[in-house]
Amino acid sequence: MCGIIGYIGELHAGGQTDGKESSEATDGGKFQSVGGIVHRGLKNLEYRGYDSAGVALVGPTSGLTVTKRSGEVDGLTVPDIPDATHGVGHTRWSTHGPPTDANAHPHTDCVGDVAVVHNGIVENHETLKRELAGHEFTSDTDTEVIPHLIEEELTADPSADLLTAVQRVEGKLEGSYAICAVREDEGEIVVARRGSPLVLGRGEDATFVASDVTAFLEHTRDVTYLEDGDVASLSADGVEIFASGEPVEREIETVTWEADAAEKGGYDHYMRKEIHEQPSSLRQTLAGRLDADGGDVNLDVSFPPGFLADLEEIRIVACGTSYYAGRYAAQLFEELAGVRATVEIASEYEFGAGRTPDRTLVVAVTQSGETADTLGAVRRANAAGARTFAVTNTLGSTVTREVDGTAFIRAGPEIGVAATKTFASQVATLAMLAVAVGRDRGALAAADARSVLEDLQGLPGAIQQVLDDEEQVREAAREYGDSEAFFFVGRALGVPVALEGALKLKEISYDHAEGFAAGELKHGPLALVTPETPVLAVLTDGARAAETMNNVTEAQTRGAPALGCVSAGDEYDTLDVAFDVPDVGIVEPLVANVYLQLFAYHVANEKGRPIDKPRNLAKSVTVE
Ligand code: M6R
Repeated sequence: MCGIIGYIGELHAGGQTDGKESSEATDGGKFQSVGGIVHRGLKNLEYRGYDSAGVALVGPTSGLTVTKRSGEVDGLTVPDIPDATHGVGHTRWSTHGPPTDANAHPHTDCVGDVAVVHNGIVENHETLKRELAGHEFTSDTDTEVIPHLIEEELTADPSADLLTAVQRVEGKLEGSYAICAVREDEGEIVVARRGSPLVLGRGEDATFVASDVTAFLEHTRDVTYLEDGDVASLSADGVEIFASGEPVEREIETVTWEADAAEKGGYDHYMRKEIHEQPSSLRQTLAGRLDADGGDVNLDVSFPPGFLADLEEIRIVACGTSYYAGRYAAQLFEELAGVRATVEIASEYEFGAGRTPDRTLVVAVTQSGETADTLGAVRRANAAGARTFAVTNTLGSTVTREVDGTAFIRAGPEIGVAATKTFASQVATLAMLAVAVGRDRGALAAADARSVLEDLQGLPGAIQQVLDDEEQVREAAREYGDSEAFFFVGRALGVPVALEGALKLKEISYDHAEGFAAGELKHGPLALVTPETPVLAVLTDGARAAETMNNVTEAQTRGAPALGCVSAGDEYDTLDVAFDVPDVGIVEPLVANVYLQLFAYHVANEKGRPIDKPRNLAKSVTVE
């Protein structure tokens, strides 16, 4: 996830060394330079994950100096700028364009007068870029339109200052953003926020701005959270905040978290933070990709002419949680795109006889893009002559270099070993791909596509409702968490969610948990069912709820407690616990999955497990 830091004030003594060395305070409590303070802020943001970093420093004589590169903050040498008065810095997690030096932030206008760092996505950047004909662009990013738009405003109205220009530009941007802008001959940092967080640090000797308080917590605990639509100017005279062009007052609060807790957004574990991030990470996944009116999607992927029309099979290869996302998606491909779709555990995959390579699309689903088993499957598919495609979270990862095309899930970095938000974003991305393929093949009517897109649009809000219901899950975890074993069941789209629910629980709580198709209960597992084995069931739309409930009843008859994720409006009086799932059609089981994530989390938390780093497991499994 990208990170922002900005500083203006009197904490620095004047630079004599490069920013890297001067990021330590001297005996007098002063830092050597503005660069040192900004560099230290970037170090504090490293935990968010990033692939590139950069700074822009401004001084009355030195003007504007930008330094940026792909790679680690430690490798970024911030230059000596003795007269620098303020600066901004950025850690980038790539979404548009690979992690290169040119794509790193800050981005500048044509003449290097304005520099901007940005978190979020400018959804209409392609339209804006076309309107900026004549401007020279040097990166693949959506961000770069912003300094050029500011340049346009400043050129059109020479009396305008940076604040005015940013206020005007802000109205032209669609999507989510947190922006910090500086200008060569102005002593201020101008910031704007819509949909992406920005917080001001209000120290006695300095003002900071950052994407989260961790960046400046060592300097001040007094903070102001900006609201959507706010534009603010940070200068030697203090802070001015504007909403709709009018000055506004915003509260100053005192943060009591320690840095470690702040990195986790106040949560005890990254896993819980990432579970709670799902509404916003899904908005990022979907941003600018849904054409709800036209009933189509724009995933920015292309296939050779006629390839999709002639497609015989989509074969998904993946491991672990990504495999379950693939199992969910395979059903969507068959239903929406009218094409045979199969899923294979990547380590088991062989191209197989009787298949036609040039009519097969092999889709590798992998959060990290580095899983050895999945890469092995891609290589076998390539060797067989099949067209390959990746769905991944990680720009520049190995898988992206080995396939014919890629769609990024844009979930932001996931630090907890247990995959949570990336599962939701994988399924959402694959659902969009299914719509795109279905529309291309003529298998999906526009009206049906529109209905799927509406379901997807409703997903972030529906998940928020589940998150708001967390206390009910915590209570259920306390009541049933000490059981001997747990069974997770569902049908249709509920099966991959049941499998994923069981994986999550066993992975972080170390309890025995199994997931299977509900109909299979009576074919064997029922022998294990006792009053000490709760059954957790997906009883939503898309999961053939009534039939699943019959199987749950079979378990209840043997004394098993039953917990169900139930579509809003449905009632199953015999359930011991019913979790309400808002109505979002084809993605409803994905919402139910959030209850199962929270259940796993709270069971493990009650047991004091090391949730973010479960024993024997790694986030990225790079051995076969
Ligand atoms: O990076 P990938 O998506 O390829 O990783 C695949 C699995 O290793 C991963 O999903 C694993 O199962 C998770 N720890 C599950 O929470």
